[in-house]
Amino acid sequence: MDDGGDLVNTLHAERPELLAAVRGGCESTATGVIRLRRMAAEGALAFPMVAADATTTKRMFDNTCGTGQSVIDGVLRATNTLLAGRVVVVAGYGACGRGIAEAARGLGAQVVVTEVDPVRALEAVLAGFRVQPMADAAPAGEVFITATGSRDVIAGGHLPALRDGAILANAGHFDVEIDVQALAEAAVKVTRDVRPHTDEYLLADGRRLLLLAEGRVVNLVAAEGNPPQVMDVSFAGQALVLAWLAAGAAGLPPGVHAVPAEIDEQIARLTLESSGARIDILTPAQRDYLTSWRHGP
Ligand SMILES: NC(=O)c1ccc[n+]([C@@H]2O[C@H](COP(=O)([O-])OP(=O)(O)OC[C@H]3O[C@@H](n4cnc5c(N)ncnc54)[C@H](O)[C@@H]3O)[C@@H](O)[C@H]2O)c1
Repeated sequence: MDDGGDLVNTLHAERPELLAAVRGGCESTATGVIRLRRMAAEGALAFPMVAADATTTKRMFDNTCGTGQSVIDGVLRATNTLLAGRVVVVAGYGACGRGIAEAARGLGAQVVVTEVDPVRALEAVLAGFRVQPMADAAPAGEVFITATGSRDVIAGGHLPALRDGAILANAGHFDVEIDVQALAEAAVKVTRDVRPHTDEYLLADGRRLLLLAEGRVVNLVAAEGNPPQVMDVSFAGQALVLAWLAAGAAGLPPGVHAVPAEIDEQIARLTLESSGARIDILTPAQRDYLTSWRHGP
């Protein structure tokens, strides 16, 4: 079970003698899956890996609900700031970004979303968020949270536009979404830990920018990560994937594979059961109606 591709990377780079014995594995983050796909495209991945991040249940529970809540928790613990009425800029409206945006809106923030994908951007517009390029959002934002899986989302070029007191936080897997080096170069003074996990960067013109968790994953550094109920579902999914893989790995070639839809459904059923929710079951007539092309409107 990998998280961010580090285990697979270490195995290939440092312990290649172990590769032949590995039957397969699963990866739990979007960033890790991107790394695996790059390895597979170069023919470098030695065994099958299942993209456990890509199940609907994992993304709903972990990325959207859990990360949405715990990232805001991290920002609040680090700053004790009030979000109501303030402009919160969320970079990336993927599985994590939409959860963060909703959680911030739930606390009364005015949320601006930045995106590079037109479909995701449109989803954000239809959910009622203002969508802008980062260059336009930079002067308005009071709290910035990056959740893109990409790099330099808040870059050196954005710094001159930021307001005094702007709070910068990252929720993405790697600490490259906020260009911390550019921030350090622009600062005339850095005061570490003005509050736990909050560093103050004083710029030459007197503005102070607050960087949380040194640009690392804010919900893991400044809060406690996802609640156990969320991790329960993620790990249960990964365990089911590994059991499935162990039973059929011989048939899967090296590469990145999707989680079968039945496993996603099984996770949803088990989670519903444990939360006490029940659903209806299709009657034979309904099943027939839904599967036959003979029934017209
Ligand atoms: N903090 C946590 O607990 C936690 C949990 C799960 C995932 N993650 C990490 O968060 C990151 C995002 O994960 P996700 O599942 O939401 O991924 P995702 O692929 O669903 O969403 C990422 C979004 O960012 C957008 N994007 C890419 N570059 C951008 C840019 N420069 N500006 C604005 N938008 C941009 C993409 O178009 C996409 O819509 C990944 O690094 C992932 O590993 C963190």
